[in-house]
Amino acid sequence: MRMLPHDDDVSGTPHPTATAAAEDEPGIAAVTHPLRSEEDLLALRHAVRTATVRAGFKLVDQTRIVTAASELARNAYVHGGGGACEVRVVQQSGRRGLRVSVTDQGPGIADLDGSFVDGFSTDVARPGHGLGGARRLMDEFHVHTTPGQGTTVVAVRWTSHP
Ligand SMILES: Nc1ncnc2c1ncn2[C@@H]1O[C@H](COP(=O)(O)OP(=O)(O)OP(=O)(O)O)[C@@H](O)[C@H]1O
Ligand SMILES: [Mg+2]
Repeated sequence: MRMLPHDDDVSGTPHPTATAAAEDEPGIAAVTHPLRSEEDLLALRHAVRTATVRAGFKLVDQTRIVTAASELARNAYVHGGGGACEVRVVQQSGRRGLRVSVTDQGPGIADLDGSFVDGFSTDVARPGHGLGGARRLMDEFHVHTTPGQGTTVVAVRWTSHP
């Protein structure tokens, strides 16, 4: 299993600011959405937009998060054979965040480092900007991928940036 936090630490060890430290926002339940069709991908965009509004994000951040979640969801659908996305409002040190956790049971990402490079795709028909772009849009970004077993990407954006 590989983990790749946002700061390009590719050592494979869990990151000290790992999202596990974040707590659930009381009263706002996590929701898990299927990613098994184009309709699911569209529904996820709407659900993430709604969650960002509820969490108090301004418009530009709303769009950042929706775009990142959409790219990760499409990857799970296209490359991972379908999966699911959990959307969760979290809090840490008095600030709020939105965490999206996209999971599939597909082939895993063979070249994780290469997959973040703009223009890298294993599909000649695709531009290969999704994964790297999604990481740039979020504050925290962790990839867990195991060959033959699947991929989970956990990404968080916070409402305030100290
Ligand atoms: N969930 C996944 N399962 C397996 N492989 C993946 C997954 N997500 C990404 N990859 C691999 O990483 C590569 C880069 O992903 P990225 O999202 O950047 O580009 P893309 O999906 O090929 O093209 P684009 O997102 O621009 O349409 C993919 O081509 C694919 O090989
Ligand atoms: Mg993609």
